[in-house]
Amino acid sequence: MTGAAAAVRREAVAGSPKISFAGVEKTYATRGGANGGTLALDRFDLDIAPAEVLSIVGPTGCGKSTALNILAGFEPPSSGGVRVDGRVVTAPGPDRGVVFQQAALFPWLTALDNVVLGVKCRGEARELYEPKALRLLEEVGLKGFERHYPYQLSGGMQQRVQIARALVNEPDILLMDEPFGALDYQTRLLMQKLLLRLWEHFRPTILFVTHDVGEAIFISDRVIAMTRRPGRVKCELRVTSPKPRDYDFLSSTEFKALERELVLAVQSEVDDYA
Ligand SMILES: Nc1ncnc2c1ncn2[C@@H]1O[C@H](COP(=O)(O)OP(=O)(O)OP(=O)(O)O)[C@@H](O)[C@H]1O
Ligand SMILES: [Mg+2]
Repeated sequence: MTGAAAAVRREAVAGSPKISFAGVEKTYATRGGANGGTLALDRFDLDIAPAEVLSIVGPTGCGKSTALNILAGFEPPSSGGVRVDGRVVTAPGPDRGVVFQQAALFPWLTALDNVVLGVKCRGEARELYEPKALRLLEEVGLKGFERHYPYQLSGGMQQRVQIARALVNEPDILLMDEPFGALDYQTRLLMQKLLLRLWEHFRPTILFVTHDVGEAIFISDRVIAMTRRPGRVKCELRVTSPKPRDYDFLSSTEFKALERELVLAVQSEVDDYA
């Protein structure tokens, strides 16, 4: 998607949310069907604006991945629904690119082939998609590594391949479930800046799940904290500093105040267990 195309698409839906979770409830069946199952999400409501970067933080097991998986179309809600551009989500689609915590690459395919796989499955001509994939690999900093296999790449490089793969279908929406969770601190910071740079270029709507409140604040327009399970939105914070941001934002008054508020919001959910 070009920047101009993205702007036109955003304008067309100005005012209406890109993504809307309304009264979403999710119960996972317990093995054997006893005890009525696990209620993971309960009355989960959330609107996300076009091109907004929204992060979700919350205690482990509160339903963050469940919410993301329902939006991705991997899991159906038990009741309520999720809409994208007003249409109810019923299945995965190329409009939603997904990046997981562990680089889910095919070990027998090169970086380039991992990136083009998604397009290939849709029957597009190689002459069209290969240059695009090569451009994307360059954009995520992997020029020269196109023919490397995953085992020849570091964890951070593998995550870059995953991001390129998620972008190759020119999705309107990027769904990221702790994508940098397994990386060391320095690589994490680099990846956060890379994500902001890619956002500037492609302007997708991003739903980002993380345990790291600093990461959430650094990349987002808005951060929501969830209650413990069954998860729903507990509170939301807006980050007003304009994107793209640099590392000096990490020591700003705004960052520190938001970080404190978010840590307390999440911690109070965990403390109640003690
Ligand atoms: N496929 C599944 N089958 C049964 N229960 C599940 C399934 N997936 C998740 N759950 C349960 O639903 C609840 C929410 O899980 P979920 O993975 O959404 O949490 P999370 O917030 O992403 O946690 P974490 O921060 O640890 O990744 C948990 O109690 C979990 O055990
Ligand atoms: Mg999770």
